[in-house]
Amino acid sequence: MGEGKDFGVVVLISGSGSNLQAIIDARLPLTIRAVISNKAEAYGLERARQAGIPTEVIDHREFADRPAFDAALQQRIDRYQPDLVVLAGFMRILTDELVNHYRGRMINIHPSLLPKYRGTNTHTRAIEAGDTVAGCSVHWVTPELDAGPVLLQAEVPIHPGDNADTLAARVLEQEHKIYPEAIRRIASGEIHWPN
Ligand code: GRF
Repeated sequence: MGEGKDFGVVVLISGSGSNLQAIIDARLPLTIRAVISNKAEAYGLERARQAGIPTEVIDHREFADRPAFDAALQQRIDRYQPDLVVLAGFMRILTDELVNHYRGRMINIHPSLLPKYRGTNTHTRAIEAGDTVAGCSVHWVTPELDAGPVLLQAEVPIHPGDNADTLAARVLEQEHKIYPEAIRRIASGEIHWPN
C-alpha cells in the first residue's frame, strides 16, 4: 500500500460511537489511525477494537483544567499525524488554541440544521419551536461553538407526535449517511476548507 499517500483520520468520541461505526462500515479509502475517547466506558471504543483500530482514553477529569486536557489531547492526536480530525459525538468544549491548531482539518457532526440550534437539546428545541423539518449538519470546527462553515446537511420531517427520542433516531439515520460522505469528499479532495 502507498503508505506515504494514505489519508489519515483520527476520530474523537465520548459515547456510543454509532457515527464512528458508519464511518468504519463505509470502507472509505483512508485509514482511521486512532479513536480517542475522554470516557473509558464509551461503547465506541469497543467498536474501534472490533475493527482493529488503535484506541486511546484521555480522561478529562485527570487534568487540572480545560487547557491542560486540550494540550494533552493535542499531543496524543498529533502522534498519529492525521490529515483530518473527526469529532463524532465528542462531548467536550474545545479551547480556541486546540481548534486553531486543527483549522481546516477538523470537522463535527451536529444534530440540527445549522445555523439553527447550536449547542445541546436540539431536537427538543426544534419540536418546541413547531418546526416541521429537522436534520443534521457536518461543519468545519472553528472557535465559536457549532458555528463553522457547513459542508453537508440532510433534512428529515418532524411528524406530529414526535418526541426528542423519535426525532433523534430519524436524524441519526441521516447522520450515518452524510458523515461518511463528507469525509469521503474531503479525503478525495472534492471539498476542502473553507468548502
Ligand atoms: C450524534 O447525535 C451527534 O450528532 C452528536 O452526538 C451524537 C453522537 O452519537 N454530536 P454517536 O456517539 O455517534 O452514536
